[in-house]
Amino acid sequence: MREIGPVTASSPRHGPDHDHPAHGRPGNGDDAAAWDEWYSDVDQVWSGRPNGALVAEVTGLAPGRALDVGCGEGADAVWLAEHGWDVTALDVSQVALDRAARHARHAGVTVRWVYAGLVEAALSPSGFDLVSAQYSALRRTPTAEAERALLAAVAPGGVLLVVHHADVDAEHARSQGFDPADDVQPGDVAALLDDRWVVEVDETRARAVEGGAGAHHRLDQVLRARRRR
Ligand SMILES: C[S@@+](CC[C@H](N)C(=O)[O-])C[C@H]1O[C@@H](n2cnc3c(N)ncnc32)[C@H](O)[C@@H]1O
Repeated sequence: MREIGPVTASSPRHGPDHDHPAHGRPGNGDDAAAWDEWYSDVDQVWSGRPNGALVAEVTGLAPGRALDVGCGEGADAVWLAEHGWDVTALDVSQVALDRAARHARHAGVTVRWVYAGLVEAALSPSGFDLVSAQYSALRRTPTAEAERALLAAVAPGGVLLVVHHADVDAEHARSQGFDPADDVQPGDVAALLDDRWVVEVDETRARAVEGGAGAHHRLDQVLRARRRR
């Protein structure tokens, strides 16, 4: 099933914090069209394999309803579906979603693809047993809309998993027109957790990725929190 959600050209978006195989990246404030253009420059941006932190943190959880925020080319969503999860995956890039859907077809799994930004998507409150945001380029705002949307999507007893790079060269990124400080970080989400949540993992750890645009990153910041019932 494909749902077309509200992506507005004026919604502020910003680009990935790594080098694109083909060229630099969109700058802060760029929108969904910039992500489409960025993805379109090469046939495949990412490795095609699920993120290591996702696999490490989700293996062993009882499958339920999962939300993959900023799913990109869909490797995480496909892996989740292959492991019994009922997956909804959203992204602002139609180009990325088309590739993700193709990946799912080849894998023989079904994923609900949603073309929308996290904040603009009309997600059912408390609708997911797992909400995963892996290197999602969610923009920080004074009112923490993206962080609150992540929290609001998690069902009682469910898990929120937020992973981002812990080794970004901020000076280099800024020289390319992108400020990593504008990205929602796991720490921003952790700062909003109250006693309705249990922090199960909050750490920096090594990562190893072969191939794809993010392969040079070697450190992850991982936050896994469970919402109390
Ligand atoms: C660095 S990529 C990570 C993709 C994927 N999670 C992965 O690990 O391969 C960030 C993704 O977030 C998407 N994105 C950017 N702004 C977004 C937003 N507001 N809501 C949802 N996705 C967004 C981009 O289109 C892009 O696919």
